[in-house]
Amino acid sequence: MATSKPAKKLEGLHQAIDQLNQQAGSADALMQAVTVLLNERMLKYNWVGFYMLEPGAKPPVLVLGHYRGAMTPHTRIPLNQGICGAAASSGKTVVVDDVSKDRRYLACSLETKSEIVVPVFVDGQVVGELDIDSHFPAAFMLEDRELIEYCAQLVGKRLEAEQASRASGARGRA
Ligand code: SME
Repeated sequence: MATSKPAKKLEGLHQAIDQLNQQAGSADALMQAVTVLLNERMLKYNWVGFYMLEPGAKPPVLVLGHYRGAMTPHTRIPLNQGICGAAASSGKTVVVDDVSKDRRYLACSLETKSEIVVPVFVDGQVVGELDIDSHFPAAFMLEDRELIEYCAQLVGKRLEAEQASRASGARGRA
């Protein structure tokens, strides 16, 4: 059945991401591995990167972290700018099928046609996001969204675990 193919492909990716999560020694290593995997395995994921909130920055700002794809001029994005800012400030996934029609869009590459941005949470608070650009219009279907949200959740859990272990280490030293 033709319709089962994409689902199967993404099912394989979920497994590959679980494996990366087991192998990665830290949340940072996991973020790097996720950008490589998604960019290499998904034809339409032409730019894949994490933006993380700078700790303590006032006003808050998203800072570019690990990414795969063309260099972007947007290495620091305030929360009131861009699709990235919209996702981080609302705490909601933003999917834009045609970036030319979205006034919030900050251009990274002329080739980009569609974009998805998924927040990363630690203890219920947004700490960053996973941003993916595509050279294809409306590239992000429900199964893509689920896959990308899954990646963002795994990263959030790893960050949460690292934060908890730092806190218990600090308590142990006190
Ligand atoms: N397009 C994003 C900016 C980041 S680049 O796509 C890598 C935005 O509108 O926030």
